[in-house]
Amino acid sequence: MAKLWSPICDQLGIETPIFGFAHDIATVAAISNAGGYGVYGATRRFPEEITDELATIRGLVGDKPFGVDLVLPPGMPEHNSREAIELEIPEGHKAFVQKIIEQYEIPPASGPGMRTRFIRSSEIEANQIDAVLNSPVNMFACGIGAPAPVVQAAKQRGMTTLALIGSPHHVARAIEAGVEIIVAQGYDAGAHTGPIGTYSLVPQIVEAAGDIPVLVAGGVATGQHIAAALAMGAQGVWMGTAWLLSEEHQAHMHPVNRQKLLEAGSADTVITRSESGKTFRQIRTGWSQAWEAESAPAPLKMPYQDVLVGDLLGAIEEHDIEPLIHSGAGQSVAYFNEIQPVAEIMNQLTRDTLKVLNAQQNFIKA
Ligand SMILES: Cc1cc2nc3c(=O)[nH]c(=O)nc-3n(C[C@H](O)[C@H](O)[C@H](O)COP(=O)(O)O)c2cc1C
Repeated sequence: MAKLWSPICDQLGIETPIFGFAHDIATVAAISNAGGYGVYGATRRFPEEITDELATIRGLVGDKPFGVDLVLPPGMPEHNSREAIELEIPEGHKAFVQKIIEQYEIPPASGPGMRTRFIRSSEIEANQIDAVLNSPVNMFACGIGAPAPVVQAAKQRGMTTLALIGSPHHVARAIEAGVEIIVAQGYDAGAHTGPIGTYSLVPQIVEAAGDIPVLVAGGVATGQHIAAALAMGAQGVWMGTAWLLSEEHQAHMHPVNRQKLLEAGSADTVITRSESGKTFRQIRTGWSQAWEAESAPAPLKMPYQDVLVGDLLGAIEEHDIEPLIHSGAGQSVAYFNEIQPVAEIMNQLTRDTLKVLNAQQNFIKA
């Protein structure tokens, strides 16, 4: 039977060139076990958790390759410094957040939220990197920022290195750092994303990357998209939004979020800095709208915004504050309207891509 394949499959030991980013172990393992390349988003995990979780994924996938992704933005404080950061947050911002709390009558969270479990710092990043380097993982993916020493250290351990990039200008720096695969992530993508649309971005990145393989991210949801990615010179795709509605991920999904994602169309996502301080695409809700209001202050920079809103974001989910509950998601959310096992999503994608690739010949007239 014909298979969806590109040279990167043989290079990395996978069956089909579909890479899947997810924040939970079960989904990542299922993507690798279905013949793709699962990548675990570990940027909000403590180093000890990363060690345990990567070992667990290894147990679930056996010899199949899988990766881990850390977001390593430059310019973070040196130490975990919540108190110091709190002192620098303007009173007007605190008052604005307090107004949201009062308007929706949100009780305090029982503990810190996902964004305030720890505050980003170079110290914690170094420990996360160490945990990854000492784990049995095949790929080190850099979400934001690809520091050359980290890339080199990962390569020395035999890991494949990859960086997500949203602008052609960043290709040279990634190649200089030693990155072996580039993900060209366009504006459509879920969570942190840049201003250039996927179609405009990818051919420019493919050209700038030369021999380095490129994957397409941002708006990939169907076989048509995958065929288009290959037509633009990429060797595969990197998907995130697709797995939010996988059966495997549902243990981590608030039921209100599940419903909002199932119902959302492409116009129901919005880019806001109110989540983390950097541009972040999520489902439009009372949360993004509150920060879009004329009276709202401009969100702070990362990690100040994390400290300002992190506990509150946790409280919103903990206390089921329906109008404010939201998830990061890309414009491709429109295509995912049911809960399906990862293996079924993968099957459908590969089947449909082959169909589209075959049909391409209809456009050539002898
Ligand atoms: C909820 C969510 C969280 C994400 N978190 C990260 C992250 O921590 N690190 C990262 O490199 N990419 C992250 N991404 C982006 C994905 O890696 C991927 O590039 C993106 O989802 C691709 O576009 P798509 O959403 O249209 O599939 C996230 C995406 C989503 C939907």
